[in-house]
Amino acid sequence: MPSVLSRRAATGVLAALTTLAIATPAAATGGSTVGSPGLGDPYFPLAGNGGYDVKHYSLDLDYTRADNHLGGSAVITARATQNLSRFDLDLRGFAISSLRVDGAPARFTRDGQELVITPKHTLRAGRSFTVRVDYAGEPTEVIDPDGSSEGWVTTGDGAFVVNEPQGSPGWFPANDNPRDKATYDIAITVPKGITAIGNGRLVSKRDHKGKTTWRWREDSPMATYLATATNGVFELRVSKVGKIPLYHAVDPAEVPKGAFDLLGAEAEVITFFSGLYGPYPFSSGGGVVDNAPEVGYALESQTKSQYDQTPDASTVVHEISHQWFGDSISLTSWQDIWLNEGFAAFSEWIYAEKHGGETAQQAFDASFARSATSSFWRRPPANVGGPEFMFGSAVYDRGAMTLQALRVKIGDRAFFGLLRDWYAKNRNGNVTTADFVKLAEKRGGQQLDAFFDTWLYQPVKPTTW
Ligand code: ARG
Ligand code: ZN
Repeated sequence: MPSVLSRRAATGVLAALTTLAIATPAAATGGSTVGSPGLGDPYFPLAGNGGYDVKHYSLDLDYTRADNHLGGSAVITARATQNLSRFDLDLRGFAISSLRVDGAPARFTRDGQELVITPKHTLRAGRSFTVRVDYAGEPTEVIDPDGSSEGWVTTGDGAFVVNEPQGSPGWFPANDNPRDKATYDIAITVPKGITAIGNGRLVSKRDHKGKTTWRWREDSPMATYLATATNGVFELRVSKVGKIPLYHAVDPAEVPKGAFDLLGAEAEVITFFSGLYGPYPFSSGGGVVDNAPEVGYALESQTKSQYDQTPDASTVVHEISHQWFGDSISLTSWQDIWLNEGFAAFSEWIYAEKHGGETAQQAFDASFARSATSSFWRRPPANVGGPEFMFGSAVYDRGAMTLQALRVKIGDRAFFGLLRDWYAKNRNGNVTTADFVKLAEKRGGQQLDAFFDTWLYQPVKPTTW
């Protein structure tokens, strides 16, 4: 059953297609065109927008938990990929006080998550432009098709900010699709005594009139859902692994539970995966342990994994491995979510194996022991059947099993070479399952269509492969 949310999204796309059809004659006569309101992702059709490519987001946020008021100024630098008489950003809620394109006021309307912008003059294909949106209000928490909460999730003393897959437009205007990666400057002004943590490196921290502005900069391309601005009372510690600064922020309630020690393990995990997969992708790292257990999951926000509570050691391994698989290498379609979660779950297995724990094959065997009649086998990892199942156990466990089965089939040398190639080739890029199959065949020196079909697409327990 599609959720209310995806049903509404589907209706929006139909409306959008009608608009596009009307716009076509203008395009045919050499006139301007309208950027599409979505990128047609099968799970989230309206996420992202057509007609431009964002290069950089500069976000200036001011947040007070007491009245749950977020004031934002977003400057988005983008390049038109077609002539644009009109284009969309994704934004949920807020009142917009000013909207400018290249410094000139632009007309805009709102339609659900679509912020529809008509610049004064058509933007020509290939040209760079800036959009500045000044907005304010109570941020919108987004409820996912699986019922989980994301976006700007308020806590007792601030907000836990996590957005996979569609929470970002609940706190900033975005081209909300992993296909459009960009660099970020994130400034967050909060009452003095509150710590605010964005992605990347801390550029400055300034006090003024009872408030503090924290400025963070992420210089590697990042998908919108990996942005963060988590804030609250935190103890912040800075350390290093090699030349890379690590920022660890822990809610005081979690300090006695050993959160700093668990985060401290990140340095060794980063070193381990750098050896196994290739150099750590980013110029900084770290993690945030908040006290928001009602969220119920952790997220691999780029350079700053977000933990809703003190994690166990394997969750830290999982989120750090996502920095390679999910963050540096991004999805093209949400349906391929196993390329993130299956790889992170396998990373937990291989980490344990190489540290004297259970072998990946033992983990595989334990998962494979599930009865053939278990519902687990009905949702194959590359086709779970809808966004409400995208974080289901099959995506993680059967995804990891696929990799372990592949390892056995092509041998360790080819398999680990394949993972290194996969990362080297796709660093900072976007991938599909078909890309992985192709590279696996090349590295494995064999036809693997049937193998991957069995493991990734068939809704039954594999018997032979
Ligand atoms: N990628 C996260 C992890 O496995 C899970 C995010 C779940 N998100 C959600 N809205 N339920 O580490
Ligand atoms: Zn994960």
